Amino acid sequence: MMNIFITRQVPATIKQSLTDQGHKLSEWTEKRDLTPDELIRYAKANDALFSVGGHAIDKQFLTTCSHLRVIALCSVGYDHVDVAAATQLGIPIGNTPGVLSKATADTAFLLMQSVARKAIHKHKEILRGNWGFFDPTADLGVDLQGKTLGIYGLGRIGYEMAKSCRYAFDMPIIYHNRGHHEEAEKELGARRVSFDELLEQSDVLSVHANLSDQTRGMFNRDTFSKMKASAIFINTARGLMHHEADLRDALEKGMIWGAGLDVTNPEPMAPDNPLLEMPNVAILPHIGSATIETRMKMMQLTVENLLAGLRGDPLPYCVNP
Ligand code: DGY
Repeated sequence: MMNIFITRQVPATIKQSLTDQGHKLSEWTEKRDLTPDELIRYAKANDALFSVGGHAIDKQFLTTCSHLRVIALCSVGYDHVDVAAATQLGIPIGNTPGVLSKATADTAFLLMQSVARKAIHKHKEILRGNWGFFDPTADLGVDLQGKTLGIYGLGRIGYEMAKSCRYAFDMPIIYHNRGHHEEAEKELGARRVSFDELLEQSDVLSVHANLSDQTRGMFNRDTFSKMKASAIFINTARGLMHHEADLRDALEKGMIWGAGLDVTNPEPMAPDNPLLEMPNVAILPHIGSATIETRMKMMQLTVENLLAGLRGDPLPYCVNP
């Protein structure tokens, strides 16, 4: 019997799949994030972590809690984890790849449409009592049909976004990756381009890369200035990949046409952030994977990783090299 700490409340069926194996659970039930000290305190009293959310799993935490047999993340992203330190300390880190690709891509697609048709802005106007009237020239959106989709980081999620855009709006696909994505090239006619070409040619530029030292702050004044004035920028990856003040400036100055964000820095975004009031911006609170089916699959993979780690077996979905 091992002790597992779950950093958020999860459904009873998920807990049962752990208790059925004889493990004992404790759960963080408060409606706020754990502080770093609290996380350490709970982790110290347990053998494994079922880790939900982006609380830092840094070197200090890992060194203090080096007794942990496994840390199973309920996310595909692991930029909040010092994987090198975990590997050095022999702590396996699990994640949940694949199962959230479609839901996350759907969120990018939703944001793209919301920005193109100013849907979220119009909804806010209705709430303010400004339904308006049929004005043939007011507050118009743009068509997406046939526009070029640029993907920065064409992996599993980017590929799902590319498919949706290709099939729904017949959008030509260009992408920037280190290597070729052969399936996208063959199935969707996607074309690999340089980063500058991606910026210059995209009508919609959607970010799907992992956050790393190379990609941090990649979308900034310089890169926005190379984009089309009619372009829509979408980020469902990580908020740290775009420079927020530069994005706002680019929108205000008309360097780009609109932006849709499911990720911000920090999260939550301050409620008085001017981006929230801009008509050409749509913002969601990091709900990329938030469907009933997807979250259930993510939690199931997290359980698989936990059980494997507690048995001392290799994790089925492991991020340590
Ligand atoms: C992920 O799985 O990485 C999502 O962004 C949730 O954090």
